[in-house]
Amino acid sequence: MFLTANKSIESSATNAIPNDLFGAIEDLKQELNAVVLAHYYQEGDIQDIADFIGDSLQLARQAASTSADVIVFAGVHFMAETAKILNPDKQVLLPDLEAGCSLADTCPPDEFAQFKEAYPDHMVISYINCSAAIKAMSDLICTSSNAVKLVQQIPPEQPIIFAPDRNLGRYVIQQTGRDMVLWQGSCIVHENFSEKKLIQLQVEHPEAEIIAHPECEEPVLRHANFIGSTAALLKHVRQSDRSSFIVATEPGIIHQMQKQVPGKEYIPAPASGTCACNECPHMRLNTLEKLYLAMKNRTPEITMSEEVRTAAWQPIQRMLEMSK
Ligand code: 13P
Ligand code: SF4
Repeated sequence: MFLTANKSIESSATNAIPNDLFGAIEDLKQELNAVVLAHYYQEGDIQDIADFIGDSLQLARQAASTSADVIVFAGVHFMAETAKILNPDKQVLLPDLEAGCSLADTCPPDEFAQFKEAYPDHMVISYINCSAAIKAMSDLICTSSNAVKLVQQIPPEQPIIFAPDRNLGRYVIQQTGRDMVLWQGSCIVHENFSEKKLIQLQVEHPEAEIIAHPECEEPVLRHANFIGSTAALLKHVRQSDRSSFIVATEPGIIHQMQKQVPGKEYIPAPASGTCACNECPHMRLNTLEKLYLAMKNRTPEITMSEEVRTAAWQPIQRMLEMSK
């Protein structure tokens, strides 16, 4: 009885949230020699406390070059896994281990292994939004910002399987003219934009430019004036002489657009159904409180077998070299 009572005092103390959360996280960064990497789809507070914010490629590059002992990855599981693959000796923390990815989930390793067997002469290019097990079965990894550039470097006679996102795959086929076999995966966030509502919104804002992530479906991409990764969209709004944009990707990027390019108007593209926003439910599982607790308790931590890690490392490393 005494032990149980003590235990519960101890565990509630470990989960206590300080009033000055920002200050406490800054202190823990120093104490642990930790770096906080955040994706553009994270909530604003997390972006504000991060040491580095970026798209998947920028975050992978940052993870590959950091001298920190602990990487706190404010993103989803496959992103933190990539950081671990590149840094086997560092501790990689993910604020919420449940922060997965609907797109990565569309590609189960056993089904993909069977699919691959049907195309023995094909090389496998996988979008970074997949599990370490899929990466381990791939020849080359790409992100939304380098997919076109990487496919263009593959000799024309080499047949290609592209997985898991059929929308990015179709976009790359259109851009490169390469025929590729596509795994039929997709992202619940990006396939949820409504073409009909987008057209209505454009009528209401004729001055606005439509900018979209290549994970969106073809009927939405058809209306886009500019298509690119999250980092490319951010760069575009900075460089464009337009002052109003309809943004067809997860609205977390708008926080960074407003910060880096203030004074312009950013309108989130409308989702199907009644919900007005299109937040990624996986990305949004991370909160500032969970990030603090992950650092304080040094858990949840990303782990994987060395066999999978080394097999997954090769195609990621190839990507980093090919997209220098
Ligand atoms: P980026 O390559 O733009 O970071 O895209 C990541 C992502 O998850 C898009 O849904
Ligand atoms: Fe995955 Fe889509 Fe969320 Fe990106 S936005 S992490 S692809 S579910």
